[in-house]
Amino acid sequence: MKKISILGSTGSIGRSTLDVIRHSGDFRVVGLCAKSNVALLLEQIAEFRPKIVAVWDDSTAAEIRAKAPRTVKVVSGLNGLSEVSANAANDIVVSALVGAVGLVPTLEAVKQGIDIALANKEVLVMAGEPFMRAASKSGAAVLPVDSEHSAIFQCLNGGKKEEVRRVIITASGGPFVDLPLDKLKKVTVKAALDHPRWSMGRKVTIDSASLMNKGLEVIEARWLFGLDLDRIDVVIHRESIVHSMVEYIDGSVIAQMSVPDMRIPIQYALTYPARAASTAHFVDFAKLKTLSFEAPDHARFPALGLAFRAVREGGTMPAALNAANEIAVGEFLEGNIGFLDMAVVVQSVLDAHKRVDRPSIEAILTADGWARGEAKRCIEIRK
Ligand SMILES: NC(=O)c1ccc[n+]([C@@H]2O[C@H](COP(=O)([O-])OP(=O)(O)OC[C@H]3O[C@@H](n4cnc5c(N)ncnc54)[C@H](OP(=O)(O)O)[C@@H]3O)[C@@H](O)[C@H]2O)c1
Repeated sequence: MKKISILGSTGSIGRSTLDVIRHSGDFRVVGLCAKSNVALLLEQIAEFRPKIVAVWDDSTAAEIRAKAPRTVKVVSGLNGLSEVSANAANDIVVSALVGAVGLVPTLEAVKQGIDIALANKEVLVMAGEPFMRAASKSGAAVLPVDSEHSAIFQCLNGGKKEEVRRVIITASGGPFVDLPLDKLKKVTVKAALDHPRWSMGRKVTIDSASLMNKGLEVIEARWLFGLDLDRIDVVIHRESIVHSMVEYIDGSVIAQMSVPDMRIPIQYALTYPARAASTAHFVDFAKLKTLSFEAPDHARFPALGLAFRAVREGGTMPAALNAANEIAVGEFLEGNIGFLDMAVVVQSVLDAHKRVDRPSIEAILTADGWARGEAKRCIEIRK
């Protein structure tokens, strides 16, 4: 029985993970973490009986303590999240917080040699090099949960690393792939949250609509698989059946396909290297009829180019990109800026950032803090 802790258990990935665990019988939940959804967290505590639970605020911790069984240790703040993730009892930690807050707790688990099922892509965007170095030092496996990276991970079994010509990351294109360009400026938050294929948390759904998500995934793939940027391509694939592909030097392309259901890549990360029967649906090829592929429109989706720029320039640039994007997405969700303003804010922050090369985690966190302040300043000026 694998002992598992879940960072972000009340979120979209967290709930899907618990669904996989519920139907498996091969896992024992040791720890859970969440922020604001107290009612769901209490239900999860009652069902999965973790030994330790972390929440962000002290007041939420007090509420959980009062309502949960006494046997559950309840902790709070960043140290609390790290106490759950780095618990020596864990065999594997599902890293499914959203945004930069996941960096420290995920890194603390890796330093202890605990395997990570990684959904929280911002961890690798901010700190890909030091994070993967820490994993290689401790022997922790970093197993992808993102469907695209799970696909690449599976397709890489088709040959040797030196035989890979390139990886091709697919993107559904989100809700605005066909919207006339002049209408993009005025899209509503509701329309941006209405993703045609995937049901996800709010931040990643907005990132999917702007294609920043694809940019973050390019950076994630660069570090996860140790790939040069010129060997990573992005194509729009509206059907979301091919989750990504690996092209080999002989011209063969190996693709991984499934219905769009995050329980499939989550389960593969948890059972790797084995495969287990799934409760998800299977692909009905006769009903599919077409699988389409097209180049992304960079004029429509400037965020994609900004992510390529950040990783190409390197150092603390991706951390600055990520932080500026988190602020911009938050302000868009609040209705304070328009959809196209998000990329403008990120670009301004990248232009102003004084890059630190080969950054330590401390330098990365400093760049993150600076970029958040700079993004807020840019937004104030635009108001
Ligand atoms: N959703 C998907 O299908 C999908 C697919 C691939 C990759 N990902 C990646 O997976 C990550 C999670 O995405 P998601 O869609 O699951 O996000 P989500 O639904 O917004 O869930 C985020 C989770 O993190 C918790 N959280 C946020 N801030 C916290 C804090 N300061 N302290 C403790 N807990 C905190 C939330 O708790 P509360 O709910 O209690 O506030 C929630 O449990 C993202 O990096 C995303 O890019 C998601």
